[in-house]
Amino acid sequence: MKFFIDTAEIEEIRQANMRGWVDGVTTNPSLIAKSGKDFHTVIKEICKEISGPVSAEVISLQHEEMFREGKELAKLASNVVVKVPMCEDGMIAVKKFTAEGIKTNVTLVFSPMQALLAAKAGATMVSPFVGRLDDIGVEGMTMVDQVIQMYQNYDFQTEVLVASVRSPMHIQIAAEMGADIATIPFKVMQQMTHHPLTDKGIKMFMDDWNKAQKK
Ligand code: E4P
Repeated sequence: MKFFIDTAEIEEIRQANMRGWVDGVTTNPSLIAKSGKDFHTVIKEICKEISGPVSAEVISLQHEEMFREGKELAKLASNVVVKVPMCEDGMIAVKKFTAEGIKTNVTLVFSPMQALLAAKAGATMVSPFVGRLDDIGVEGMTMVDQVIQMYQNYDFQTEVLVASVRSPMHIQIAAEMGADIATIPFKVMQQMTHHPLTDKGIKMFMDDWNKAQKK
């Protein structure tokens, strides 16, 4: 299973990468806006740090404009993946990007049918948003399971990228289901390292060691 980090903060990417947790990066307009930096500058910076796929999202909603914008993004670095929102114009753009060999990530996917359409358009990756579904009382991980099953039935090559992750449980369930990728906020990666018995065990070992040194 590949781990992407869901952030536009270069320091978080560096820290996670030092720990071996970064196979790629996802950004979105909200994360870029939060970074307070120029969009293209941030993407170039991230692509220098990480050799894996880096998703950069188009802002336009009309397919010609999406295509033009995506081509500009793809020129920034060879590992840029153009992130396109799920909508009819988006699917036209995805089909064109695919024909030109430009990788895509179809985002804002909330139903198995949307994921099926993204795969038919030739998307490289599809991003089912689990946390935002959970937020409205719909089990997000059920959708992931359905998407994986459908893709396997027809041997689609589109990778399932679990997005809108809120907790380590999302990652555990995604791994059990066989999702290809999860994009994870750094905070959740850090939560995954902890277990109360591990923390307690480390403290006990240190206390015993220090006591023995004093004797
Ligand atoms: C990543 O590609 C998505 O944009 C991101 O996971 C969305 O997460 P959020 O629902 O926490 O904003």
